[in-house]
Amino acid sequence: MTIKTIATTPIAGQNPGTSGLRKKTAVFQSPNFLENYVQSIFDGIGGVEGKRFVIGGDGRFFNRQAIDVILRMAAANGVAECIVGRDGLLSTPAASHLIRLNKTDGGLILSASHNPGGPNADFGLKFNGANGGPASEAVTAKIFGASQNIQEYQILDAAPVDLRLEGKTKLGDMTVKVIDPVSDYAALMESLFDFDAIRTLFQNGFRMSFDAMLAVTGPYAKEIFENRLGAKHGTVINGEPSHDFGGGHPDPNPIWARELMAIMHSDTPPDFGAASDGDGDRNMITGPRRYVSPSDSLAILADLAHLAPAYKDGLAGVARSMPTSCAVDRVAAAKGIEGFETPTGWKFFGNLLDAGRATLCGEESAGTGSDHVREKDGLWAVLLWLNIFAVTGKSMDQILADHYAAYGRTYYSRHDYEAVESDKANALMSALRTKLPDLAGQVVNGMTIKAADEFAYVDPVDGSRSEGQGLRILFEGDARAVFRLSGTGTEGATLRVYLEKLETAKNKFKADPQKALTNVIAAAETLAEIKAHTGRAAPDVIT
Ligand code: G6P
Ligand code: ZN
Repeated sequence: MTIKTIATTPIAGQNPGTSGLRKKTAVFQSPNFLENYVQSIFDGIGGVEGKRFVIGGDGRFFNRQAIDVILRMAAANGVAECIVGRDGLLSTPAASHLIRLNKTDGGLILSASHNPGGPNADFGLKFNGANGGPASEAVTAKIFGASQNIQEYQILDAAPVDLRLEGKTKLGDMTVKVIDPVSDYAALMESLFDFDAIRTLFQNGFRMSFDAMLAVTGPYAKEIFENRLGAKHGTVINGEPSHDFGGGHPDPNPIWARELMAIMHSDTPPDFGAASDGDGDRNMITGPRRYVSPSDSLAILADLAHLAPAYKDGLAGVARSMPTSCAVDRVAAAKGIEGFETPTGWKFFGNLLDAGRATLCGEESAGTGSDHVREKDGLWAVLLWLNIFAVTGKSMDQILADHYAAYGRTYYSRHDYEAVESDKANALMSALRTKLPDLAGQVVNGMTIKAADEFAYVDPVDGSRSEGQGLRILFEGDARAVFRLSGTGTEGATLRVYLEKLETAKNKFKADPQKALTNVIAAAETLAEIKAHTGRAAPDVIT
């Protein structure tokens, strides 16, 4: 086995977005692309000699081959040990846990999350640091910098490690430890939640349907829900990980989790329905004939988390990304705990979690999590809901009704315009940005504008500043429209329009969100001139 040094030149576009580097699979497969990026990670984090890493991915097409390259490059660069999930599989939250549990120097996670997989779809790679969380912007900037100056990379000339077998092997001087991807994570969940109470809930006939969307959570969900908690066989649907997610989008929303939505709208729906995404960090929550918006789920979990053993002493604080609805702010205010508003992207929660300022975090993009790991965690959210069902004995309808009665209902919707030509999307944003200073006081489609700005964030822990994090228009009556361009797409630009409005009248909690938000939607269109800029008459996806 010899270490080869291969000469290379910088490849444009190795700039990590909201969550690592995501590109078309073919781009990752193109000559030196993956190798350049891996070497840039190693160089960008200050070298890897003697370090230890966790490596795993969501099992999508190219996962195994990419892990082979990463392992041979790690060995060539002097890494001491890599802990790898069997078959190269690790959910993102499990990887985060393993980094923390094994006190490694970080990990490399292979996933494009909820984006489709396959030779013609998407692939991704991201670096998480020693705290288990996505690298900060300062670190990703260094990685990007390294990618712009790269001249060579090191790789071991060796046969691929057999990842089908658990146990320790050597690759050059590096130890490769192949582990069961599920057991440590399942043990962590068991330490956080009242598994006895949840087991009793299932024994008493509570029914759940969990859609793993042919992605990584299947084996985790079967072990936790069916084996350990005694939910009946078949509770987990689409539980076999597939390299292209059956050709679908492993994105847990009512559009893509169609099969689950059909079950929840059947004549005899289960009491609870949930889904997770490609790499297991997102969650969708539903009840019988009901979709629970991620922002509502976050607010309810924040309100009731103390019912689970891990959170029995209450929460230090809560954090949400800026476009996430303000529902959780009202819970934080009622409990007298700190509420933080961060830019989109889980990495921004890292410092708050590390500093013990926030215990629970969540995003409108179906991410919820806590300080147990440094990623959002789909199965964790489902288990917290189960723990709440078990302790309260209430139905989903009752829990929602009680929440709305106590805090009001924040109607919420996100409208996505996908694969818009980048210059048109940028033109829309800059036109709106120019208008912002003059908007306060104007009345648009019956909505009075209270304030408008471009969101910037100063991290309260390390003082770092992040600019340009979305345009916000605040209306009288606790309504809001937020505009931002997605940082995770791989084709053109995706315009996201986030819409919300608080309703406090007790007889108005049962409306269709699109109807309840009619004026906010109209005002958003008037202000941003979406049709004129993009030529699109309607959003591609409404959630
Ligand atoms: C990823 C990140 C999330 C973030 C989401 C937003 O899933 O892990 O933290 O909320 O991307 O994606 P967007 O496409 O809106 O930038
Ligand atoms: Zn994900």
